Amino acid sequence: MILKSIQSCRKAIYRDLQQCRSGTFKLFADIDYDTFCRQAHPDFSPVGWHLGHIAYTEDLWLLQRCAGLKPVFPQYHQLFAADILPKKQRVFLPTLPEVELYLDEVRKKVFDYLEVAPIDEQEGLWRFIIQHESQHCETVAFVLQMHRNKAEKRGKKEEGILMPNAQFPMPHAPFPIPNSAIEVPGGEFYMGSDAAEALDNERSRHLCYLEAYSIDRYPVTCRQYREFMESGGYQNPDWWSADGWKWLQGEAVSQPLYWSENSAFNNHPVCGVSWYEAEAYCNFIGKRLPSEAEWEKAASWDATNQTYRIYPWGEEPPNGSLCNHGNNIANTSPVDAFPKGASAIGCYDMLGNVWEWTASTFDAYPGFESYPYRGYSQVYFDGKHRVLKGGSWATFPQALRSTFRNWYYPGVRQIIAGFRCAK
Ligand code: AVJ
Ligand code: FE
Repeated sequence: MILKSIQSCRKAIYRDLQQCRSGTFKLFADIDYDTFCRQAHPDFSPVGWHLGHIAYTEDLWLLQRCAGLKPVFPQYHQLFAADILPKKQRVFLPTLPEVELYLDEVRKKVFDYLEVAPIDEQEGLWRFIIQHESQHCETVAFVLQMHRNKAEKRGKKEEGILMPNAQFPMPHAPFPIPNSAIEVPGGEFYMGSDAAEALDNERSRHLCYLEAYSIDRYPVTCRQYREFMESGGYQNPDWWSADGWKWLQGEAVSQPLYWSENSAFNNHPVCGVSWYEAEAYCNFIGKRLPSEAEWEKAASWDATNQTYRIYPWGEEPPNGSLCNHGNNIANTSPVDAFPKGASAIGCYDMLGNVWEWTASTFDAYPGFESYPYRGYSQVYFDGKHRVLKGGSWATFPQALRSTFRNWYYPGVRQIIAGFRCAK
C-alpha cells in the first residue's frame, strides 16, 4: 500500500470504529441495572456482559496481541473472556458506567495505537474487531426485545428499552403483497469475498455453478405464515422432517417466537422461527429453502452485466432508504418497503429486516484459513449449524453485505430470523 492509501485506510477505520461505537452506546441508553445484568434466556448472556466482552476483545487483539501492551483492566479477564464463565455466572456485573469506563479506556489506547499501527498488514484484524462489536450488538438488540416481550406478558408498562419508532407498523395492511417467484437461469457466479472486510468464513471468493432455480421476490410474510398456522401446520407431522417433528415435540410451540396477532404486521416478514419451522412451511406450500449459494447469487449477481454487487442494490453503503438495518426502525418493516434496495434480479429485502435461513450447513469455502482464531468460525464447521444470510433490522452496516455468513443451530428461534422460499 502506498502512503496515501495507508492514511485513508486509517481514517476509514477510525470513522467506522466511532460509528459502530455510537450505535453500541445508543442501545444501552436508559437501560436499568436489572435489565443490564439479567439473562432473558439461559442460552444468552445478559446484555451487560456483551458490552464488557466488546471492550475485552478489542483490548486482547489490538492492544495486547498487536501493540504488546498489558491488559487495561486485568481484573475483568475472568468475567469478560469468551469462554471462561458459563452464561448463568455472567450476571454479576459492574455497573453500566463502570463498563463504559472500561470501553473508553481501551478505546483511548486503541486510537493512540491506530496512529502508528502497520495498518497495511493489520486491516483485516481491525475490520474483524469492528464486526465483532457489531455482531454482539445484534445479540444485545434481540435480548432486549426478549426482555421487553416478557415485561409485556407480565402486564408491566413498556420499560423504555429499544422502542420501535412510529414509522412501522403501518396502521393497517389490507392488501396481500403478491410474492412472485423469480426465475434464475443456470450458470456460474462468484461466491464469497476476498475484500479487506471479509471474515475468514467468507474466503476465498470462488466460482460456483448452479442449475436454474426460482426464488421468491420477498421473504415469507406473516400473512402467508398464518395460513400454515391456521391450517393446523404445527399439529400435522406431514410437513415436518423427522428431526423437525422431534424438535417441535420438545419445544411445544404453536407460533413464531416474535409473532403478533396484530394485522398491522401482515405484510412484515415472519420473524422468530427456527430452521425447522421454516422447513415445515416450505413443505406445506410445496417449495424449499434456497441453498446459501442460491441466496447469494440472487442477492449479488448481475447477469446482464456479468458483474458482482457488494450489496443487492450496487456499491453504495447501506442507508435508511435502501434497507431496514442498524436499529433505524428497531422492528420489522413491510417486505415491499425498500424498492431501491432490490437486487439485480428483483429480490427485495435481501439485506436487513430479518435474517434468512438457508438450506446449507455452515462449511469452509475452498482455501479457508482460520482468522483470527479457530474458535471464530472453524469450530462451527460441524455439519450441525445452518447458514443465515442477509442481516436484520438490528444488524450494523459494517456486518451487512451479500457475502456475510451467520450461523446457528436449527432449533434456535431467539435470533431475528425469517426465511424466503425457493424451488
Ligand atoms: C456468528 C453471530 C453466531 O455471536 O456467537 C461473536 C459471532 N463470535 N464473538 C456469535 C461472534 C465471537 C457469533 N455469531
Ligand atoms: Fe465475541
